[in-house]
Amino acid sequence: MATITIQPSGIQFTVKDNETILEAAERNGIDFPYRCRQGVCTSCVCKTIAGDVSYGDRDENTLMTSPDDTQKFTYCCIGYPKTDMTLHHPFIK
Ligand code: FES
Repeated sequence: MATITIQPSGIQFTVKDNETILEAAERNGIDFPYRCRQGVCTSCVCKTIAGDVSYGDRDENTLMTSPDDTQKFTYCCIGYPKTDMTLHHPFIK
């Protein structure tokens, strides 16, 4: 289980094991942006302020932002938090 904090709204919710961040947000009634739910469209992407995420068996190099980018991003529709995380998304309220 991990706790997600969204900035700047301050919204917090917990993510169960084997649950994506997007699934947990929906379970908590949060209006979280998404479209494809497959790591393609970037609607759900948040800037990573703190914490670490796993994409399971998925090759991160297939995502539009590479793990080598200086700015880190989290694809919430396919991401499983490895730690508590702080994410930034300006439109989640
Ligand atoms: S919903 Fe499209 S990348 Fe996450």
